[in-house]
Amino acid sequence: MDVFDGNKFLNTVLLLITTIIVAKLISYFIIPKSKKRLPLILPGWPIIGGLLRFLKGPIFMLREEYPKLGGVFTLKIFHKNITFLIGPEVSAHFFKAPETDLSQQEVYQFNVPTFGPGVVFDVDYSVRQEQFRFFTEALRVNKLKSYVNQMVSEAEDYFSKWGSSGEVDLKYELEHLIILTASRCLLGREVRDKLFDDVSALFHDLDNGMLPISVLFPYLPIPAHRRRDNARKKLAEIFANIISSRKGSNKSEDDMLQCFIDSKYKDGRPTTEAEVTGLLIAALFAGQHTSSITSTWTGAYLLCNKQYLSGVVEEQKNLMAKHGDRVDHDVLAEMDVLYRCIKEALRLHPPLIMLLRSSHSDFSVTTREGKEYDIPKGHIVATSPAFANRLPHIFNDPDKYDPDRYAVGREEDKAAGAFSYISFGGGRHGCLGEPFAYLQIKAIWAHLLRNFELELLSPFPEIDWNAMVVGVKGKVMVRYKRRELSVNQ
Ligand code: HEM
Repeated sequence: MDVFDGNKFLNTVLLLITTIIVAKLISYFIIPKSKKRLPLILPGWPIIGGLLRFLKGPIFMLREEYPKLGGVFTLKIFHKNITFLIGPEVSAHFFKAPETDLSQQEVYQFNVPTFGPGVVFDVDYSVRQEQFRFFTEALRVNKLKSYVNQMVSEAEDYFSKWGSSGEVDLKYELEHLIILTASRCLLGREVRDKLFDDVSALFHDLDNGMLPISVLFPYLPIPAHRRRDNARKKLAEIFANIISSRKGSNKSEDDMLQCFIDSKYKDGRPTTEAEVTGLLIAALFAGQHTSSITSTWTGAYLLCNKQYLSGVVEEQKNLMAKHGDRVDHDVLAEMDVLYRCIKEALRLHPPLIMLLRSSHSDFSVTTREGKEYDIPKGHIVATSPAFANRLPHIFNDPDKYDPDRYAVGREEDKAAGAFSYISFGGGRHGCLGEPFAYLQIKAIWAHLLRNFELELLSPFPEIDWNAMVVGVKGKVMVRYKRRELSVNQ
C-alpha cells in the first residue's frame, strides 16, 4: 500500500468514526429518551439467565436479594422477565388489577391437563368468572353448615380407630383424614362410600403428574404425564356415571358435586358432566394438600408451645361448658384461640409459596422507601406469601410462632393494610375456600384436643421446599393417649 492509499484509508476510518459520534450525539439530544425506571435485572448466565438460581429455590433467592434491592426486581429466565413485587406497598396492584391488566390464564396453563378441558384456566375469563361463582355458591354459609357435620363425623370415625394409646405419623394421619373428608364434602357420598379406593388411586396419579417440569412443559411425553392423562380419563367416566345416575333418580345430596350439577351459566345453560368433573378436580387440588399441610404445622407448633396448647385446650373446655359436646358450624366459629393458632402456622408456612400473573399493560409501583418503578407489559409478575409473610416491618419478630399477634389491640396482619398477610392470596383472586379450610382444620383439632393427650416425638419438622405445594418434610411422629376432656379438669 503506497502513502496515497494509506491516507485514503485513514480518512475513511476518521469519517466513519465522526459519523458514528455525530449520530450518537443527535440521538442523545434529539430522540426522546425512555423515562422508564425499570427494576434492576439480576445478573444471570447467557441464554438461561437466572434459571439455576430459581430452580435452587425462589425463597433462597429472595432472602439474598430483598435486603440489597428491596421489594422490586427482575429475574430473567430464558427470554422471560419475572418481576417480583414483595410487600404490601408494591403488591396491591398484583392483587387488585383486573384480568385485562394482570391475568392468571397464561401462567397457570400447566393445570389444564389435570383439571381437564372446558374449565378454569382452559376457558375465557368471562366463563371462568361464572365458574368461580359456582364455587362461591357451593361454599356459602348454609352449605358450609352441612359440610361441617360431615367433617365432624369423619373425624370422629377416623380417630375412633386409634387405640387407647400409641404412636403415629401425624402427617400421614391428617393427610388421610382430609382425603376422606374432602371426598365426602366435595366429591359426594357415592365416591366416599363405594368408590373411595379407586378414586383416591386416580387422584394420586393426577397428583404425581404435576411436577416442577410440568409447569414449563405440561405435555412432555413422560410416564408421569401419561399416568395423569389416563387417570383424568377414568375420573371423567366415573363422575359421568355418578352424575347421570343422580340426575336420573332425581336424588339431591349435600355436597359440592350437587352444587356444581345444579349450577347454571347466566344464559341459563346448565353445567356439563365434563365441566362438573373438572371443577371438582380443581376444588380438590386447591383444598386438599393445602389444608392437610396446615393441619400438620398447626399440630407441630401447638405440641412445641405448651403455652398455646393450654390456651386451645382451655378454649375447648369453655365451649364444652357452654355447648356440651355439640360441635357444629357455630361452635367452630367461636374457636378464636384455635383460629389464631392455625392462622399463625399458616403465616409461617403458606403451602402456596409463589403466586403469578402475566402483565398485559405497563404499570408503576412505589416502594416504602419512595422509589418508583415501571413494570412493562409482557413481564411475568410474582409475589411470595412465604417471603412476604415474614417481613419484619409488618410482623414483629417475624420468625417467632406468636398467635397473639392477631389478637385485638395488636392485629399485625391488618396494621399495614390489606395484603400484609397473604397465605390465602387476596383481592380479586383471593381464596374462595378459606372458611371451608378453617372449619375443616378446626373440626379436626377440636376433636383431637378433646379426646387425646399428644406429645411430639420427632424433632420440629423441616420444610419440604421441593414439593409443588410446599409442606412438611418427613414424618411427624406423635405419641397419643386417649382422654376425655372434662369441663372441670
Ligand atoms: C389452608 C388451605 C388453603 C390455602 C392456604 C389456600 C390458598 C390459596 C391462595 C394463595 C389462592 C390465590 C391464588 C392466586 O392468587 O394466584 C387461592 C385461591 C383459590 N382457592 Fe384456596 N387455599 C386453601 C384452601 C382452599 C379450599 C379448601 C378450597 C375449596 C374447597 C379453595 C379454593 C380456591 C379457589 C377456587 C381459588 C381461586 C380463586 C380465584 O382465582 O378467584 N382453597 N387459595
